[in-house]
Amino acid sequence: MIRVNDLHKRYGKTEALRGVSFALGPGITGLLGPNGAGKTTLLRCMLGVIRPTAGDVDFADGMRVRQQEVGYLPQKYGLFKELTVRESLAYFGVLKGIPHSQIPDEVDECLRRVNMLDSRARRVGALSGGMIRRVGIASALLGGPCILVFDEPTAGLDPEERVRFKRLASELGKVHTVLLSTHIVEDIEAIASTVIVLNEGRVAASGALQDIAELARGKCYVAPQRAVNDYSEDYYIEKYLEIDGEPVARLLSAKYLDGFTPVEPTVEDGYLCATRGIA
Ligand SMILES: Nc1ncnc2c1ncn2[C@@H]1O[C@H](COP(=O)(O)OP(=O)(O)O)[C@@H](O)[C@H]1O
Ligand SMILES: [Mg+2]
Repeated sequence: MIRVNDLHKRYGKTEALRGVSFALGPGITGLLGPNGAGKTTLLRCMLGVIRPTAGDVDFADGMRVRQQEVGYLPQKYGLFKELTVRESLAYFGVLKGIPHSQIPDEVDECLRRVNMLDSRARRVGALSGGMIRRVGIASALLGGPCILVFDEPTAGLDPEERVRFKRLASELGKVHTVLLSTHIVEDIEAIASTVIVLNEGRVAASGALQDIAELARGKCYVAPQRAVNDYSEDYYIEKYLEIDGEPVARLLSAKYLDGFTPVEPTVEDGYLCATRGIA
């Protein structure tokens, strides 16, 4: 549906994108990468907000993306605190060029989809972080886009709001092509059909969630805490935990060392292998 061809983006001396290519299909695609990986730059190039230094983006119809076809939830966006939820959406509806007569119905429909219809008369300034994010998503839904692009939609949300957002994203993914950027594996676990791991401006890995987990096969171990060194260059310690009352370290290592017990890899393990160069 959308093909990204060898995108490069330079900001002065910073090479934010160094040749990114992939195809975006239906369902939810997770764009996963640490801060500074180039996620926001990539999304902005795809949406035509900024121009890439080289490379291009093809849409199925061969045309550049049209405003109505993509709903974009930027990483940072402002709302007017004095407006009500409904007024805010009507304002975005006008900006999107939706005919005035259709705006009230369309606004209510989008609010219903994010479960905010009951809060439509509330002032934006009085909403929680999760509700503000839902207003942003509702505005992205205005005009019936087939593609939704969410940039770090869970940033600043508390754990409960994160869970709710994930459920909403999963619902939206049944109807829309969703591209969701995040630095948190859990945000896309169990809901993404495809994952693109971006690191230092390049695609470090891509595939189904299970494919990402497989990158860490044979590299995941637990070892007694007393047997590991926090600063070792031979392995990467993910966390400390207790198993059967014994303090152990869960770690990623390219090679097996004495005292290591192999464990099943997770998506998080695969993501860490891809971004930390554990090969
Ligand atoms: N407008 C800009 N001017 C200069 N450098 C930028 C600009 N936007 C992003 N960068 C740099 O480009 C790199 C990628 O940033 P960004 O796309 O925001 O990554 P992410 O969204 O994955 O955190 C970073 O090194 C960042 O500092
Ligand atoms: Mg970003």
